[in-house]
Amino acid sequence: MKGAAQPNTPKRFVVTGANRGLGFEFVRQLLERGERVIAGCRNPGRALKLTEMAAAHPGHLHMLPLDLDKERSISDFSRQAGLIRDAADVLINCAGVLVSGERFGELTAKTFDETLHANVTGPLLLSQALAPQLAGGADAKIVNLSSELGSLADTTHFHSPSYAISKAALNMVTRLLAAQLKSDGIAVVSIHPGWVRTDMGGSSAPLGAAESVTGMLRVIDALVLRDSGAFFDYRGEAMAW
Ligand SMILES: NC(=O)c1ccc[n+]([C@@H]2O[C@H](COP(=O)([O-])OP(=O)(O)OC[C@H]3O[C@@H](n4cnc5c(N)ncnc54)[C@H](OP(=O)(O)O)[C@@H]3O)[C@@H](O)[C@H]2O)c1
Repeated sequence: MKGAAQPNTPKRFVVTGANRGLGFEFVRQLLERGERVIAGCRNPGRALKLTEMAAAHPGHLHMLPLDLDKERSISDFSRQAGLIRDAADVLINCAGVLVSGERFGELTAKTFDETLHANVTGPLLLSQALAPQLAGGADAKIVNLSSELGSLADTTHFHSPSYAISKAALNMVTRLLAAQLKSDGIAVVSIHPGWVRTDMGGSSAPLGAAESVTGMLRVIDALVLRDSGAFFDYRGEAMAW
């Protein structure tokens, strides 16, 4: 039998970029409702708030190093996650970078390389590595944190090109994985979290992280396999590709 999670059994989440911003808020809310979380971050030793949360929720939160720029780190993370739990139910690819200040006429390959690694190649390789664990999970889902800036249809200004291109590419990752993993019962979606007050979103953003994550978790909880390949916002509204 696939999964074996019963109603009210804690679900097993994997969250990347868990030391700050939306990733941290995902972990906070998931632990509050009793779920089990494996949290990936580049420097667990410096993730003090996460360490405090792990101590407050023994057995429910495990922190593992994960640098999405490094293939070796992705495979080590996946192997260690498999040793902690034999299966996972939901992977939230939350980590991401936005390099600000890009100007047409001054673009550099370095910015594109770094952004594409963190925002596209990393989540794709991690999803590939964790797919066997998700295939053994219950109601398995992969959630890619995308952005309205990745919408081809809604683009009217030359704005944050490396980031926008990376999120458009991440949306293609969602479509490809949805096709590949459907037969394993794994639903794959992109979600735009809204414009949120984090280090990336800045202090002028209208939404708090708690509101955004509460909305996204509602969307994630309600996902079924026939939603696979979709692009939603944090309220569950369909986004234009
Ligand atoms: N905030 C918004 O308004 C907004 C809007 C649309 C989409 N999003 C998307 O939502 C997600 C979360 O954004 P956020 O606002 O929480 O951003 P944030 O506050 O800047 O946090 C980014 C997180 O990603 C991690 N990270 C970056 N590069 C990484 C790499 N190469 N390997 C591993 N971890 C890496 C960071 O780790 P370090 O601490 O080690 O740097 C940090 O934990 C991102 O995918 C972002 O594109 C955000």
